[in-house]
Amino acid sequence: MSRVAVVTGASSGIGAATARRLAAEGFHVLAAARRTDRLTDLVTEITAAGGAATAVACDVTSDESVAGLARAAQQAPGSVALLVNNAGGARGLDPVESGSVADWQWMYDVNVLGTLRVTQALLPALESSGAGTIVVVSSTAGFTVYEGGGGYTAAKHAQTAIAGTLRLELCGRPVRVIEIDPGMVRTDEFALVRFQGDADRAGAVYAGVAEPLVAEDVADCIAWCATRPQHVNVDRLVVRPLAQAAQHKVHRTS
Ligand SMILES: NC(=O)c1ccc[n+]([C@@H]2O[C@H](COP(=O)([O-])OP(=O)(O)OC[C@H]3O[C@@H](n4cnc5c(N)ncnc54)[C@H](OP(=O)(O)O)[C@@H]3O)[C@@H](O)[C@H]2O)c1
Repeated sequence: MSRVAVVTGASSGIGAATARRLAAEGFHVLAAARRTDRLTDLVTEITAAGGAATAVACDVTSDESVAGLARAAQQAPGSVALLVNNAGGARGLDPVESGSVADWQWMYDVNVLGTLRVTQALLPALESSGAGTIVVVSSTAGFTVYEGGGGYTAAKHAQTAIAGTLRLELCGRPVRVIEIDPGMVRTDEFALVRFQGDADRAGAVYAGVAEPLVAEDVADCIAWCATRPQHVNVDRLVVRPLAQAAQHKVHRTS
């Protein structure tokens, strides 16, 4: 029987790369996000490469939509062994003094409550697989704050808290919890979403950085952690580009 992996936020960036990589590792991937046209293209690509995947429309901020994802997982051809909570993102770079409450709300809803909802919905299936793995894609922002990042770092700290708490609560049960904390990753949409489509501001994030991480680098980390023997639990993996020694210490050539 094949192993099923559910990846949220699979329509772009790290989620799409993770879906491709897990399919190459032999998982049947349930690729979930709101933009189904992109998911359909991804599934076609994975299938053409010899893998197996199914597109599932899912908004992680909706109970009903996440219940639909859980139903799709039940019907998938195999046992649900892996959940990658990847859907998320940042909005704005404003100081706390003037940050938008709506932006903070969005970041909490998607990153934190999205992870909570999907994890709750899929935990029974992961546990009954006898060898489940939950990956939480948090961030270096999950343990470091930076100016202008209050809303995002608050959300990622909370997501990190979910991962740590869940690992304690599941101790003794057959589900491991892995937290992935990437630093700077150049994906097509992350910075564009943060700056509401302002390509100049988005481009400036990576300006002069020779080699930021790319989505495939993070997918590689996720796949490595998730394919260790089941008794090996990589609690937390922090990964940054060589040019980024810390959140505030980035080597730029221009
Ligand atoms: N890029 C970085 O520098 C970086 C660094 C550290 C951590 N991360 C984290 O890595 C994850 C992926 O980031 P990325 O760079 O790949 O960003 P991205 O390209 O903007 O992808 C975000 C994904 O989340 C999905 N999403 C957003 N809202 C959703 C919702 N309500 N329901 C379901 N899916 C939703 C989007 O799909 P739809 O819009 O189609 O729903 C998209 O597939 C995020 O959690 C991010 O915080 C990124």
